[in-house]
Amino acid sequence: MNSELAQIGRIPRAICIALIVWGLGGTFAAMIWARFYLLRLPVFAGLLLSVVAPVLALSFYSYHLYLRTLDKFKRHAMEMGDSFSSTLSTLALAIDASDIRTHGHTHLVQKYSRAIAEAMKLDRTEIKAIASAALLHDIGKLAIPGYILTKRDSLTREETRKFRMHPQLGADIISNIKFPFPVADSILAHHERFDGTGYPKGLTGSEIPIGARVIAVADAFDGYVSDRIESRDTLEGAMRLVREGSGTAFDPEVVRVWESIYGEVVVWSTDTSIAKIPFQQAKSELEVLESLGQSIEGITAVPGIFFAARTRITKSIPGSTVAIERGEREGIPVVFGGKVIATISIERPSAPINEDELRVANAVATKIAPALNNALAIEEARREATVDKLTGLPNRRAFELASASLNRQHFSIVLVDVNSFKAVNDNFGHNTGDATLVRIAAHLRAAFHDAQLTCRLGGDEFLVLSFATRRNLRSQIGRFRRMVEWDPAHESYSRLLFSVSCGVASIPVDANNVEQAFQCADERMYAIKARIKRFSRRKRGSRPAQSPARKAHKREVQVSHSTVTVPK
Ligand SMILES: [Fe+2]
Ligand SMILES: [Fe+2]
Repeated sequence: MNSELAQIGRIPRAICIALIVWGLGGTFAAMIWARFYLLRLPVFAGLLLSVVAPVLALSFYSYHLYLRTLDKFKRHAMEMGDSFSSTLSTLALAIDASDIRTHGHTHLVQKYSRAIAEAMKLDRTEIKAIASAALLHDIGKLAIPGYILTKRDSLTREETRKFRMHPQLGADIISNIKFPFPVADSILAHHERFDGTGYPKGLTGSEIPIGARVIAVADAFDGYVSDRIESRDTLEGAMRLVREGSGTAFDPEVVRVWESIYGEVVVWSTDTSIAKIPFQQAKSELEVLESLGQSIEGITAVPGIFFAARTRITKSIPGSTVAIERGEREGIPVVFGGKVIATISIERPSAPINEDELRVANAVATKIAPALNNALAIEEARREATVDKLTGLPNRRAFELASASLNRQHFSIVLVDVNSFKAVNDNFGHNTGDATLVRIAAHLRAAFHDAQLTCRLGGDEFLVLSFATRRNLRSQIGRFRRMVEWDPAHESYSRLLFSVSCGVASIPVDANNVEQAFQCADERMYAIKARIKRFSRRKRGSRPAQSPARKAHKREVQVSHSTVTVPK
């Protein structure tokens, strides 16, 4: 503005210059006149030179100065205009970023509103006013708590009340900006309905400013398509929504105009204005990651983490099917410590996954990696706690867990004890003894292949938990004994009468619960063991066999959270 004032200040200076020029011109003209008079030229020529020439010079200089000043004014006005519209655009970006469900919404609403206003042949000022109001229609959302705007479930009564304050808040914000045309009124009324059931004032028909009526149609149309994939169905669905609201939610005239032009105005593939703005992408990713972080907080189980990640990705990529598997496969890797611990695969037959969606999925993979690695480690530790390290069979803890889940079911327990195992250890060493146990475990797995659980209880004792019939079990026990006794690796122990003793008990035939079944199977197994011992002593010609001396110590088995004392 200072430069304009300076320009204006130069005008009196120009007059002075002109007067000087006039004076000089007059003197010069007088000299010429005297000369011409001496030469007897007409007096008229002298007058012309002395009066008109300075006036012409002054007029030319003033006009030239005026043009330069006007040009500068014009340039300044354009600069102001540019800075004004870039301020509006920045505000629009901020509005867009406040709501992750919509991207490029404000620019699209502006584009559609301007097109409607032009098609309705409104005057230039009105069109400009509507375009500005459309761009800023949701500016009041900047004052609404973020959790309300990003909430995907329905809002509570209180949240709805807060959300409905955004037109008034928007109008208040905009009233501080001096627009050359009315904007705040359209922002205030953009959620009014034509039948008077809208908010905040419940205006009806023509009481609603024309700008608000236009924006309402554009807003509803884009609101419908923004959460859906780009397709003809989506377009038709949005138009159907607007058509159905004609006369109730929307001005019928605006609907009619929009219906006649929307096919040409809505062009997704070439419209760059609907592309997500970078910081909105970042915000959207942050929102997803934040909610994912909350979902997986405290989850230490792998399936729980998989479920939370799948849910987040499915919500961010509408219409997709998401699968997460352990280990490295084809898809988005979940990497921890340089190792691929899982893979996310996403499929969407209706449309390819775009870059933004892929970025969100990658961000989810990065987010879950530490928690998933932890959960996998815990799972592995749990698995190791239920596995016998020597034989690879499940251990006593696995039997306790399995029996806890078998309430009221019919099943059998087979207890297995290796005969003369101590003698093998004493005669051939503990390494050979261990190798023998590994082979017996393998025979046990093969003989009772259909068992629910085959485990090593400890030492030379094994257990089979099976749903097979007693008849099948008896034949499996016979096969198992033969596999052990006929194993060529055990040939050198034959002189030690190396074999296995098995005791069976079934629920409900022999016992009512696991505890009783275990005790019953244990007694039967020892009875068999005792018979074998008597037989072996008789064979060696030793004194007659006596009742087996039961080991004095007791072993405890945790079954279904109760303690079972099993004499051995
Ligand atoms: Fe709104
Ligand atoms: Fe909106």
